[in-house]
Amino acid sequence: MATMKTVQIYKPGDVDVLRYEDVERPEPQKNEVLVRVRAAGVNPVDYVSRAHGLILSTGTSVLPYVVGWDIAGEVVGLGEGVTQFAVGDEVYGMPRFPNEAKAYREYITSPVADLALKPQQLTHQEAAGVPLAALTAWQALFNTAHLQAGQTVFISGGAGGVGHYAIQLAKWKGAQVITTTSTRNVEFVHELGADVVIDYTRQAFVETIKDIDVVLDTIGEDVLKDSFKVVKRGGSIISLPGHKGVKVLGDQLAPQYGVAFTVIMVHPSGEQMAEMARLANAGQLKTHLDAVFPLKDVAQAHKLSAGGHVRGKIVLTLE
Ligand SMILES: NC(=O)c1ccc[n+]([C@@H]2O[C@H](COP(=O)([O-])OP(=O)(O)OC[C@H]3O[C@@H](n4cnc5c(N)ncnc54)[C@H](OP(=O)(O)O)[C@@H]3O)[C@@H](O)[C@H]2O)c1
Repeated sequence: MATMKTVQIYKPGDVDVLRYEDVERPEPQKNEVLVRVRAAGVNPVDYVSRAHGLILSTGTSVLPYVVGWDIAGEVVGLGEGVTQFAVGDEVYGMPRFPNEAKAYREYITSPVADLALKPQQLTHQEAAGVPLAALTAWQALFNTAHLQAGQTVFISGGAGGVGHYAIQLAKWKGAQVITTTSTRNVEFVHELGADVVIDYTRQAFVETIKDIDVVLDTIGEDVLKDSFKVVKRGGSIISLPGHKGVKVLGDQLAPQYGVAFTVIMVHPSGEQMAEMARLANAGQLKTHLDAVFPLKDVAQAHKLSAGGHVRGKIVLTLE
């Protein structure tokens, strides 16, 4: 029996529920490939699903459960009917989200539709940061808000995983970008292309900006409430935090302000991953790595993520 390393949980809880263990390698099914994972990205949904069992409660997974969705690696096996990829291809993606992808593993299977060729200009670690966060930014800005060149977009939390890709994607589209960060990240987001940066520890954005076309809210609560005061009538607000309060608040305020309000849920898309690979290869989409941990030190990665002040991305390495 061929085995591999994994991190899995037998119940939701604190970081001590994460178990580094050996398990059997999977086999790719029809229209799936087997990927040797070289790096796995860490997102807030990882520690949330570990701690609260949110994904477990969907009833779509069985215990032990493997956290994690973002991967970059190499195709090492093909299921029946696969023509899109060959053994040896380097790929990246966010398979099956929100169902279990089992990304914290040396080998995973993925539907071919959920993957794209890894951008050659990015390392496996940089590429593993991209899928969930950048797909979220892409789908919010382009599929939901239909952001156009010349429009103004306000991105709250510009230094985070989603925010730092959203700034780059909005600039690529030709939009004017305004964002918020704490003092230590002001220079960082300017370098990513932000035109106006508001240090939220010194100034309230609600007192500084107005007539915004599109808001991408990565923070929620008071930031969402104040976002309604800065967006123009007929504009749109897309909010990401998943808790119910965000949707209730936004749905209440939207008609008063004459604004389109949406809470989105990101979905896998090999096609969008391929478009972002083209941007990355052209130097227009970069990953900032805040921290890289070996898979067995995943507990440290979750603690850092839960602290809420990651700059760019945290990635696990499985070299
Ligand atoms: N609905 C979906 O499909 C979906 C998809 C992806 C993410 N999400 C959610 O979206 C949120 C953001 O995700 P993420 O991956 O970007 O998280 P992240 O990487 O952990 O974001 C951390 C960033 O938030 C910034 N931040 C914290 N408080 C802030 C404030 N008051 N104002 C401005 N910036 C602030 C921090 O910057 P400073 O250190 O400078 O404070 C840090 O850079 C999370 O709640 C996540 O669960 C939802």
